[in-house]
Amino acid sequence: MRLLVIGTQGQLALSLLERCPEHQVEIIAVGRPDIDLARDADLSAVVAAARPDAVVNAAAYTAVDQAESEPELAMAINGRGAGLVAAAAAAAGAPVVHISTDYVFDGTATRPYREDDPVAPLGIYGASKLAGEHAVAEATANHAILRTAWVYSPFGKNFVRTMLRLAETRDEVAVVADQRGCPNSALDLADGVIAVARNLVERPAEAHLRGIFNLTADGEASWAEFATEIFAISSALGGPTARVRPILTSDYPTPAHRPAYSRLDGLKLTQRHGIRVPEWRNSLVTAIGHLSIKAV
Ligand SMILES: NC(=O)c1ccc[n+]([C@@H]2O[C@H](COP(=O)([O-])OP(=O)(O)OC[C@H]3O[C@@H](n4cnc5c(N)ncnc54)[C@H](OP(=O)(O)O)[C@@H]3O)[C@@H](O)[C@H]2O)c1
Repeated sequence: MRLLVIGTQGQLALSLLERCPEHQVEIIAVGRPDIDLARDADLSAVVAAARPDAVVNAAAYTAVDQAESEPELAMAINGRGAGLVAAAAAAAGAPVVHISTDYVFDGTATRPYREDDPVAPLGIYGASKLAGEHAVAEATANHAILRTAWVYSPFGKNFVRTMLRLAETRDEVAVVADQRGCPNSALDLADGVIAVARNLVERPAEAHLRGIFNLTADGEASWAEFATEIFAISSALGGPTARVRPILTSDYPTPAHRPAYSRLDGLKLTQRHGIRVPEWRNSLVTAIGHLSIKAV
């Protein structure tokens, strides 16, 4: 199988580049400046030239707070841009795997969110990703939209790397304790994306493999519990560590509102695609181990 990935430097794109060889998958990654989803671009020539079996859109505007002051840009990349990628994939006869977010929900649920629960984004980022889901579905039926959450990896900017960096210089870090969700390793997401893409390619007539799916690890945590676990693992590996001081969301105001509860239910993906992501703590050990090896 040959995957064309849109995006080259992001957490998911780099994780796909790392994982594809292990899955015997050929990967071509294209990103800025060759493809800029903020521009009114026709992507069909780039996509057709790659002759992909499937296209993965790993590019997005992901600055949740900044999106509140750049709504047009967020909408252009995450909404219209997502539709352009899906349309180009369809024109090349390939399925598209698109990534979306738990931030399409408002966080008022009392059990893990299922794919068909009502959406009500609290901020511009969530609204732009929801617009992307609609644009992808309008462009082609041959799609899988994978909603995930709280993504970290050995690469780029993310919560795990931020916590470990802060622990280099501080004894204590204040972390929000009243938002609950589930941390996801981008390396696990890459494995899931590859498996979904393979199913779409190998089983073109099966409608139940298409549509929206939650791609998420087992379990749940608050950001404070996530940080506590990061420091416990780092300490056991001889890395930096700090105490976690739990605080309330109201103590740490941000431009964008975030859902208080956004755990996703992964059952549909398990039942239809045969994919089950490990418990989040197990993957965190692997990712922090990966970071320590990179730092040596
Ligand atoms: N990070 C999370 O916590 C999280 C949570 C839920 C869902 N997701 C979703 O998961 C997917 C992958 O996220 P990630 O964490 O890998 O994101 P990331 O690390 O922020 O990477 C985003 C990628 O998008 C590219 N990009 C941004 N603007 C672009 C544009 N105008 N044209 C083309 N490419 C552009 C960036 O390219 P450059 O390298 O050129 O900057 C970068 O490669 C996204 O769809 C995101 O919405 C993420």
